Amino acid sequence: MSRERPFLPYGRQRIAREDVEAVVAVLESDFLTTGPAVTAFERAFAAAVGAPFAVSCSSGTAALHLALAALDIPAGAVCLVPALTFAATANVVRHCGGRVVLTDVDPHTGLMRPEDLEAAIARAGGGRIAAVLPVHYAGQPVPLAEIREMAMKRGAAVIEDACHALGTRFRDGSGEAVVGDGSRADLACFSFHPVKTIACGEGGMVTTADRSLAERIRRLRNHGIERDPARFVAPDAGRDPGPWYYEVQEPGFNYRLSDIHAALGCSQLRRLDRFVAERRRLVEVYDRLLAPLAPAVRPIGRVPGARPGWHLYVVQVAFERTGTDRATVMRRLRDRGIGTQVHYVPLHFHPLFRAGNPDLRLPGAEAFYARCLSLPLFVGMSEEDVERVVRDLAAALGIRG
Ligand SMILES: Cc1ncc(COP(=O)(O)O)c(C=O)c1O
Repeated sequence: MSRERPFLPYGRQRIAREDVEAVVAVLESDFLTTGPAVTAFERAFAAAVGAPFAVSCSSGTAALHLALAALDIPAGAVCLVPALTFAATANVVRHCGGRVVLTDVDPHTGLMRPEDLEAAIARAGGGRIAAVLPVHYAGQPVPLAEIREMAMKRGAAVIEDACHALGTRFRDGSGEAVVGDGSRADLACFSFHPVKTIACGEGGMVTTADRSLAERIRRLRNHGIERDPARFVAPDAGRDPGPWYYEVQEPGFNYRLSDIHAALGCSQLRRLDRFVAERRRLVEVYDRLLAPLAPAVRPIGRVPGARPGWHLYVVQVAFERTGTDRATVMRRLRDRGIGTQVHYVPLHFHPLFRAGNPDLRLPGAEAFYARCLSLPLFVGMSEEDVERVVRDLAAALGIRG
C-alpha cells in the first residue's frame, strides 16, 4: 500500500500517548487484574452515561450473558432478539436456557419496532416471555419507552444491547435520555472492542438503576463469590468467619475485567465527548458527499430527534440499479485500500437459528441485509478520507456522483 493511500478499515481504535501511559502505569503498579483501575473505570462510566450502577466485565458478550443470567429466566422461556444483530445477542439466550424468538426490524433503519415485537410475540405462541433484547443498531436508539411498556405488560425485562451506542442521546415522551442511563430499561450492555467508540482491547460494561441486579452481576462475574459479610448466607457465617472467608453462592464465571484493560478504557472515556462529536462530524460529511449518489446509494434511515454516538456508517445500495453486486464492490474497494463490512447476515439465515424454524421470513431484516454496506468510520479519519471513500465507492459501483 502506498503512503498516500493508507488502508481505511471499516472501524478501528484511536490510541493516544495518554492511553499508553495509563496502561504502563498499571503495569508498573501492584494490581494487574481487578483493582483500582476497574473501580475508577466503573465510576467514570456510570457518570458518563448517567447510570446509577455500572459493572465492568471482560467483553460485550460477557455483559449480555451476565445481564441475562442475573434475571434467572426459567428454562425454555422466550427471549426476543432482533434478527439484525451480532450473534452474541442471541447466543447468550441459549447459554441461559432460554428460547430465542427473532423479531423483524425496520428495513430502513435496521431497528426493532414495536410492531416487530408484537408480531414476534404472536409467533412465540403464548409461552412465558422473560426478556426483550433490543439492539441500538449502528448507534441509533430503538423506541425504548414503547418496547419497555410492551415488555412490562408481559412481565418481561428489557436488556438494551448498547454495544453500538455509547454516547447516544434521544428524546421521547418522558423527556431526554442517554442510552444505558437506566431510565428506560432494566439493564444495558456495552462493548469496548477496538472498533467500538472507546476501546479496552476486550471489555464490556453492564449498567442498571437496580442495585440488587448490579450486586448480583458483580458476584456472577467472579465465580458467584460473595465477600461482603453483610450478605453471607451460610448458617454459621454469623460467628466471625475469619478474614479469609468468602462464600460461593451460585455458579458464576470469570468474566472480570483486568486493570490493564480498565486503565485503557478509563483513559479513552475521558475523550468520549470528543470521539462522539468527531463521529457525528464524519457522518455529516458522508451524508453531504453521498447525496449526489442517490437513489443508488442512500444512508440508512434516521431516527428523528436522536443524537447518536455513531458506531457504524451504513449505506443502503440498490445494487440492481448499478449492474454490479456487493461482493464485487467490496473486492474493488479492498483493492483500492478501503475496508467495508456487512452488518449483519440476519440471524435466521445462520444454521444455529434456522434449525427448528427453516421457513421463517423476516422481510424487513432481509431487505436491509440485501442492500447494506458499512463504510469506514473511525476517529482519525479526515474529510479527505471520506471524499476518497465516496469517490471510490461511486467508481466501484460504476456510477457518477
Ligand atoms: C450488537 C453487538 N452485540 C454484542 C457484541 C459483543 O461484544 P464483544 O465483541 O465485546 O463481546 C457486539 C460486538 O461486536 C455487537 O456489535
